[in-house]
Amino acid sequence: MSNIELTLSIIKPDAVERNLDIEIKEMFKNKGFSIVKEKKIQIEKSEAEKFYKVHETKPFYNDLCAYLSSGPIVVMVLEKENAVLDNRELMGATNPNDAEEGTIRKKYGISIDKNSVHGSDSVENAKIEIDFFFKD
Ligand code: CMP
Repeated sequence: MSNIELTLSIIKPDAVERNLDIEIKEMFKNKGFSIVKEKKIQIEKSEAEKFYKVHETKPFYNDLCAYLSSGPIVVMVLEKENAVLDNRELMGATNPNDAEEGTIRKKYGISIDKNSVHGSDSVENAKIEIDFFFKD
């Protein structure tokens, strides 16, 4: 049985700033993802705080929100069989130092903060995150 899923992907400011968005989108397409929605935006820090609310008790929360709102980002809805898990595999570990060869974070990530991409961690959170950016 097929299990087509949607997931939310964000190309973060460090990657957009280095004009890596085209290359990163190619990596998604080469792995069989369809980009069904896409927009380039810059968000306010208050919006980043809402988006990352699950992390609000973490010591890195303030820096994380300041960073996500520091420059343009590309937000996308990706579609594919098992999109949530496959996207996490393609992104690689949160810390680029721990990421496997061939992953986006290994290739382009600079640090645990500037790790080039965000991806939803579950089907449930994917729905919430897609609504956050694409609810009309
Ligand atoms: P992301 O997948 O966007 O989700 C939360 C982000 O917090 C994560 O990627 C990292 O860029 C950032 N972050 C900063 N410090 C940490 C940490 N110690 N553990 C996990 N995530 C961190």
